[in-house]
Amino acid sequence: MAPPEPVARYCVIGNPIAHSRSPDIHAMFAAQAGHALVYERCLATVDGFAATVRRLIAEGYGGASVTVPFKLEAAALAARLSARGAAAGAVNTLVFSADGIVGDNTDGAGLVSDIVRNAGVALAGKRVLLLGAGGAVRGAMLPLLAERPASLVVANRTRATADALVAHFAAQGRAQHLSACDFSALGDDGAPYDIVINGTSASLAGALPPVPASAFGPGTLAYDMMYGAQPTPFMVFAAQQGASVRDGLGMLVEQAAEAFFLWRGVRPATDEVMRRLRAAL
Ligand code: ATR
Repeated sequence: MAPPEPVARYCVIGNPIAHSRSPDIHAMFAAQAGHALVYERCLATVDGFAATVRRLIAEGYGGASVTVPFKLEAAALAARLSARGAAAGAVNTLVFSADGIVGDNTDGAGLVSDIVRNAGVALAGKRVLLLGAGGAVRGAMLPLLAERPASLVVANRTRATADALVAHFAAQGRAQHLSACDFSALGDDGAPYDIVINGTSASLAGALPPVPASAFGPGTLAYDMMYGAQPTPFMVFAAQQGASVRDGLGMLVEQAAEAFFLWRGVRPATDEVMRRLRAAL
């Protein structure tokens, strides 16, 4: 009789890490797929990311999720990057393959899946406003552009960061659909956007990015990449203008599903996992 398959091991590396929901999500995916795997939280010291990855590889882990503050370092450490990882310059999923460490970024794909499939709102042909120009927005750019919105406006508090981000992606051939501005320039034309995505970290501080009410209308989907038990200030404000609102819980689950697919070759169903996570918030 063949010996039993060794249990596959994965983890999420971050600092801090105790709050991460990823082990719960991957445990549900594994149960659904009937895969025997272990997925743990892994706290790395701020200067200990590379050493942690080397240890995991030596111990036979199949891969790792990467979260704050290590996503840039993970991109630098990977021997190969996916197109999404390279475009984002940040990696949230590592695959430890026989020929080295592969880095990918599934955050943007998770966002797009949650909007298009779960919320049932197409991005194709739509006017999209993206708030922020940090790591979260950078990761979302390529998957959002791949959906071919009619336009994508990146608005950021610091205008120069939005300009640099847009210049980087415009160089990849979609300049006519892409523009950058600061918040004061929003609302000049008065027409609401079809989709407004909050990719700033303002919600973490309980703050509202200074987006004008005119950006929202009854036909707008207002999406916050953050999530919590209560709607974020951005969601409350958008709802007051008549917009439909959605938080980032689905994005979290969908980016994990995409990582599970990279590691295990199986794409888990996400509805029940989202429902259970929501109930536990
Ligand atoms: P993350 O990895 O979460 O994207 P980040 O790279 O530090 O974090 O980026 C944070 C983003 O949120 C930036 O776009 C930041 O704007 P600046 O570039 O001007 O700093 C934005 N941000 C943070 N707090 C904000 C607030 N209160 N209002 C508006 N934008 C805010």
